[in-house]
Amino acid sequence: MKKIINASILNADFSQLENQLEEASAAGIDWIHLDIMDGHFVPNISMGPSMAKTCRRISALPMDAHLMISNPNQFIPAFADAGVNLISVHIEQDIHIHRTLQNIKDHNCRAGIVLNPGTPVSSIESVMDMVDLVLVMSVDPGFGGQKFLLPVLDKIQMVRKMIDAQNRDIYLQVDGGIDTETLPFVIDAGADSFVIGSAIFNNQIGIQQSVTNLKKLIGS
Ligand code: DX5
Ligand code: ZN
Repeated sequence: MKKIINASILNADFSQLENQLEEASAAGIDWIHLDIMDGHFVPNISMGPSMAKTCRRISALPMDAHLMISNPNQFIPAFADAGVNLISVHIEQDIHIHRTLQNIKDHNCRAGIVLNPGTPVSSIESVMDMVDLVLVMSVDPGFGGQKFLLPVLDKIQMVRKMIDAQNRDIYLQVDGGIDTETLPFVIDAGADSFVIGSAIFNNQIGIQQSVTNLKKLIGS
């Protein structure tokens, strides 16, 4: 798959969101990544469907919603209605995962499955034929600006093999602690979708230069 940057707005300046998304889009981000947190599945509360609606009003870029919430199935309709293109849910959080993934598809969104750094790759084997994206977390979710967990690189390689065996287009997405230092390792491990937050929206060199530097490493 074409390598893409999914810019996480978690650490963007919400008072400047329209300008920041315009700048990031002009610099070449591919998707907008929405980190949805409920303060229960993860120790933080972030944003909901209304933020997805706002981003859809601001930008025509594709959006993926990463649901770090306790009852993801309940919120599929709201994020689909808000104009999200892909919804990803955590395998740890859903005892009826096939029903939830089917619900996402029934709402005309693509479906993603997410696993935390401590969750074995074997846990997603039974849903590989249903998903359009596998998200391998490289931090324990809840906050932007965390340190990339290097042991996750082996897991990314394992998921790469699982996806290649499926013989169809499935994104291998990685999320957490990706910057110009860690991105080359994530690419080498076989990922093709990079969720990047702080390294775009919360640094000294500014959005335009950050995205340019990251895209140079991706070769796009
Ligand atoms: C889970 C979130 C973060 C965010 C990326 O905590 O999903 O990983 O998107 O954050 P950065 O790029 O700032 O590590
Ligand atoms: Zn995320």
